[in-house]
Amino acid sequence: AITVDRATKGARIDDTMYGVFFEDINRAADGGLYAELVQNRSFEYSTADNRSYTPLTSWAVSGTATAQDDEGRLNTRNRTYLSLGAGSSVTNSGYNTGIRVESGKKYDFSVWARADRAGALTVSLADAEGTLAEVRQVTVKGGWAKYRARFTATRSSTAGRLTVATDNSVALDMISLLPRDTYKGHGLREDLAEKIAALDPGFVRFPGGCLVNTGSMQDYSEASNWERRRSYQWKDTVGPVEQRATNSNVWGYNQSYGLGYYEYFQFSEDMGAMPLPVVPALVTGCGQNQAVVDEALLKRHIQDTLDLIEFANGPVTSEWGRKRAQMGHPEPFRLTHIEVGNEENLPNEFFARFTEFRTAIEARYPDITIISNSGPDDSGSTFDTAWKLNRDANVDMVDEHYYNSPQWFLQNNDRYDSYDRSGPKVFLGEYASQGNTFKNALTEAAFMTGLERNADVVKLASYAPLLANEDYVQWRPDMIWFNNHASWGSASYEVQKLFMNNVGDRVVPTTATGTPSVSGPISGAVGLSTWATTAAYDDVKVTGADGTALLTDDFSGDASRWTHTGGGSWAVQDGQYVQTDVAAENTMVSAGDPAWHDYDLHVKATKQSGR
Ligand code: AHR
Repeated sequence: AITVDRATKGARIDDTMYGVFFEDINRAADGGLYAELVQNRSFEYSTADNRSYTPLTSWAVSGTATAQDDEGRLNTRNRTYLSLGAGSSVTNSGYNTGIRVESGKKYDFSVWARADRAGALTVSLADAEGTLAEVRQVTVKGGWAKYRARFTATRSSTAGRLTVATDNSVALDMISLLPRDTYKGHGLREDLAEKIAALDPGFVRFPGGCLVNTGSMQDYSEASNWERRRSYQWKDTVGPVEQRATNSNVWGYNQSYGLGYYEYFQFSEDMGAMPLPVVPALVTGCGQNQAVVDEALLKRHIQDTLDLIEFANGPVTSEWGRKRAQMGHPEPFRLTHIEVGNEENLPNEFFARFTEFRTAIEARYPDITIISNSGPDDSGSTFDTAWKLNRDANVDMVDEHYYNSPQWFLQNNDRYDSYDRSGPKVFLGEYASQGNTFKNALTEAAFMTGLERNADVVKLASYAPLLANEDYVQWRPDMIWFNNHASWGSASYEVQKLFMNNVGDRVVPTTATGTPSVSGPISGAVGLSTWATTAAYDDVKVTGADGTALLTDDFSGDASRWTHTGGGSWAVQDGQYVQTDVAAENTMVSAGDPAWHDYDLHVKATKQSGR
């Protein structure tokens, strides 16, 4: 029986309780949410990103074309450009199967070019079957300048190619093709942005993850070797796109920063979600585990964080508020939360640095909620040390991450029941049941009821990762999958959507009595020659009507290792554990002290007991 206590008011559930975590992993940005159709548009791909890369990756050359990194470059943050010889052309193959265009839709082409004498660029869109739009011509002359053309697709294709040909020697950079139609006109791919917006997220955590705190903590202009991977630093990602230096992404590819901090803030605003940026804390994480000892660098990162808050919230008269206004958004973005660090393995070193960030932020912006973290694991000594440090210092909120088995999620529904009500609040910044099946989604939903029951402690929660391009996957499971023309939500997406679109106001305390019984689907199945799964049950036993144990599960995870006692004949058939001769009516009961395993048991009785 379930008893609902209508008299007692339970915890208030914040509207921002459930959100999304966007990280540029699985090509979530370039070739994903960022609508750019040209891959490696600025010829910056390099072996520093991925051993298989060259500046001409995803470009095919006809004639003479050289990638050059010299004084003739577009600017110091956009090093490599293309020298294309007279009578030559380059063709870009886009992402996945190619460039996707839709009949009747408009596409904006642009290029930065430099030519000593006037010449014509011929720009065409085609696939193997022929042209996809009327050819355009652009006249180029003089120093670096931006040239534009617009296409209207005459046919749909998912395998388009963009070709730029020249009759004259020319230098090219930032060869771009963007669909005219983007989400709210802000440069994001419509179907993906709409799927994320349909979740109705309360917040957007960005830009990572491991992406934030791996690599050098130097910014582009300070790095001794500009090619090396740098931690994600927001100032690298704002301003005109041709001045945003690309970076080597920890997930093994080059990231353009076309989707940068301004775009993240704008996307959050467009969805009515709270922006929640994560900044590096000068401890390199995700396997590197080194604390950077450099006071000047630490101070610079702290100043960058203060500047970020000013960029988001400052008046247009402030230095960084003015830059936001120049990018098109004079109104503040209303930043209220900021996270310092991600999955920090070195709790003491991290906390020392976190404290300096916190002191500086609180002094200037006392209303901002500053989020710390608890390391990479959901338990253990690092986790305990981190939590103790955070608790002792009375930190606002602590980020926890875990990727566990579905059984873990079922078993840990009560995880937060015992959390200290007077300690820091919890931000569950990353979690997922390992798998993308319905069962995983179901266990996440079950777990989320525990988050919600503890909404006085758990203030924010986001499934991770959000996006995956099916042809460039570094991490599974993921919430939304896509290729260059389609996108689809996983079962977990549906669960997240259900919860996010139906956030309650308050928890209504309830109690349940009685032992959950499995007499429904399971006992019906056994003895009636139908299949049933016991995936949702722990420690399954099959007993005869007289109580004789016929089958006990040691949950070793392998059907052939199941053991049974009692009557009947049992065999493993087609990977299922099957009872072929039932001597007595069977029932399945679930025992206490569950030990969950990621395992489906199918039981089939092929002969009725006669009772
Ligand atoms: O979500 C994928 C990765 O998982 C994140 O980058 C990191 O924070 C975690 O380990």
